[in-house]
Amino acid sequence: MKKLLLPFYFFTFLPFTALATEVKSPNGNVVLNFTVENGRPTYTLNYKGKAVVLPSHLGLELAKDKHASMGQEERSLLEGFTLAKEETSEFDETWQPVWGETRDIRNHYNEYAATLSQEWQSAPPKGTRGQRLAFRRHERHIIIRFRVYDDGIGFRYEFPQQTELNYFLIQEEKSEFAMTGDHTAWWLPGDYDTQEQETQQTKLSEIRDRMQEAVNWGNSSVAVFSPTGVQTSLQMKSADGLYINIHEAACADYATMHLELIDEKTKHFSTELGGGSNAYTPWPKASECELPKPYTFVSHLTPDATGLKGAMQTPCETPWRTVMVSDDARDMLSSNLILNLNEPCALDDVSWIHPTKYCGVWWEMIVGKSSWNYTDEFPSIKLDNIDWTKVKPNGRHAANNEKVKRYIDFAAKNGLDQVLVEGWDVGWEDWANMWKRDVFDFQTPYPDFDIKMLNDYAHSKGVKLLMHHETSSSTQNYERHLEAAFSLMNKYGYDAVKTGYVGDIIPRGDHHYSQSMNNHYLYVVKEAAKHHIMVNAHEATRPTGLCRTYPNLVGNESARGTEYEAFGGSRPDHTCILPFTRLQGGPMDYTPGIFVTKLSEWSENTSWARITIAGSLALYLTMYSPLQMAADLPEHYEKFDDAFQFIRDVACDWDQSIYLEAEPADYITVARKAKGTDNWFIGGKCDENGHQSTIKLDFLDKDKKYECTIYADAPDAHYETNPQAYVITKKEVKAGQTLKLKEAPGGGFAVSLIAK
Ligand code: NOJ
Ligand code: CA
Repeated sequence: MKKLLLPFYFFTFLPFTALATEVKSPNGNVVLNFTVENGRPTYTLNYKGKAVVLPSHLGLELAKDKHASMGQEERSLLEGFTLAKEETSEFDETWQPVWGETRDIRNHYNEYAATLSQEWQSAPPKGTRGQRLAFRRHERHIIIRFRVYDDGIGFRYEFPQQTELNYFLIQEEKSEFAMTGDHTAWWLPGDYDTQEQETQQTKLSEIRDRMQEAVNWGNSSVAVFSPTGVQTSLQMKSADGLYINIHEAACADYATMHLELIDEKTKHFSTELGGGSNAYTPWPKASECELPKPYTFVSHLTPDATGLKGAMQTPCETPWRTVMVSDDARDMLSSNLILNLNEPCALDDVSWIHPTKYCGVWWEMIVGKSSWNYTDEFPSIKLDNIDWTKVKPNGRHAANNEKVKRYIDFAAKNGLDQVLVEGWDVGWEDWANMWKRDVFDFQTPYPDFDIKMLNDYAHSKGVKLLMHHETSSSTQNYERHLEAAFSLMNKYGYDAVKTGYVGDIIPRGDHHYSQSMNNHYLYVVKEAAKHHIMVNAHEATRPTGLCRTYPNLVGNESARGTEYEAFGGSRPDHTCILPFTRLQGGPMDYTPGIFVTKLSEWSENTSWARITIAGSLALYLTMYSPLQMAADLPEHYEKFDDAFQFIRDVACDWDQSIYLEAEPADYITVARKAKGTDNWFIGGKCDENGHQSTIKLDFLDKDKKYECTIYADAPDAHYETNPQAYVITKKEVKAGQTLKLKEAPGGGFAVSLIAK
């Protein structure tokens, strides 16, 4: 690891302040300026000479604490700072992820750390005889550290251990991101408990009016906090063609960040903004605008059950706040800025971590054709009181021996690695949103699920079962059973678990993205690593690149996945936005591959997926993940076996990825080279308008010929009227040739290029 301390400082005069320090990215395109303006840390960001972030303040508001023993002033870390020290350094290193979009990742940045000092006097205490004692002087310091990359910046607050800053409570973090204009934004409502909304595309000025309809009120846990509160990762595009993305990296032992917009209509800016402890309190009242800039985002952390945003003990630091910027949308997708800002792998042995393709006993329950629960006999159940061998089965329980064996056979025949089985363990009779603590034990199978026999059967065919732990958000219950549950997995040979956090958090009052819950998710990942178990957590907090440090975190849902195709559907452009937003922090278990898109063809569900079959195949490329599901039923794949060949063939780990075309909410085209091979796969996915792709195969090896199979939408394909119309063509190609491919409305294409 090379670390270079540069013995120079940049000082320059800037329009926004008297004296600021300028730090340039390695190629000079990204320029950060930092100063302390009237006692407040302030930064700006430029890209190729254009302003990206206007002068924005940094700091944290601390909370009063009832424990005098903490011995801290409740003075905030917002103002009264002087610049005590500046340090710059350069870093350039190339590292190899355990799995990923590319074999090598370059981490190249210039770093700037400002040590800020805050001094004050407290009133002189009275002596025992009433006489005045001396004023008490206080001094404490924090560090704001910036890393300036060619495609954006990261910054974080660091709190060294010191007597004047030992333990502290966070009322709110106040990191500002002042935008230069009324950008187009792709956003989700800021919500403490769900990320499963459809993305809104509006101008920043239109967020307020769109908020009410943007909220997913039907989700099992909803806690919106402001009419202008949005989630990260937030993708924007400026009128002058800049793509700007705000997110965070390495969110550990800290609450997840949202962004609250100070918009033109209200020009609100005050410490009152969004500070409510209860997510259902009315929208916050505004006070006078302090800033002249209309479109300023200010950070808004997720509270815990106390309403506060964090309990800290120094030495500690916040996650990195990230601003990515480019004039080419493809750079948003190929950026490794967030992974790079995370710590290197913390696990010594990673040999047991592997990319996985799987199918599962899942979609038929989501659609409503079969059930997770075994019986309908009781109004409610208590786990200790039931003899499961005596209860009356409902006849709809999907996780039964016969069905699971059918899925295992299907996986074995088609080269899928694992079979997810949901509804295998007792407790599904009254599992969600009952405020019930002891909802599952994660160990007791229903009587029709023979855990030993099924695992043995799977292993005999070279397949593994994939464990499911729905926690019902009863987190203490899960932690209580965790060791036994993971030991059970080890005993039967499971090496991956899908966890779930449906419903409001128990203990009551906490939220899905609070500091305490983020600690829970990471605890589960670390415990799983001890058992050599990979984790795919649904409904957990949105990822921030922690999979670099803990590569057994192979997936998250944390957004609106394929399940919503059975809950009314998602727009056709949904998957052309997610890679710009949700996927910035890590892979999504999107569970693609729906071939029979009109669910009424095989169930009573009238929802339908707004995608063509060729579009479904494209998702295995455009929605990068080391964990890929073939989500539809085996019999549906058997009906379209020639198209399913692509799912059999496609890799899910890569040496190289090249984003060929991209525009948020319109289209994404990517070519990827399968790990350790000379084979390439290309996927293109588009929105409801269709797309024409011209792909120059100049990335292929010039000395090789390739067997090229194209899975394209038929000329008359359409996501609504003709979703199953596709054409498969085969030909030999070589480097330099061009493929012209037409994507239908809501469609896409998939190409495999197998080296001869
Ligand atoms: C929601 C998850 O996203 C889904 O995949 C799962 O089947 C259900 N919860 C039940 O755990
Ligand atoms: Ca979900």
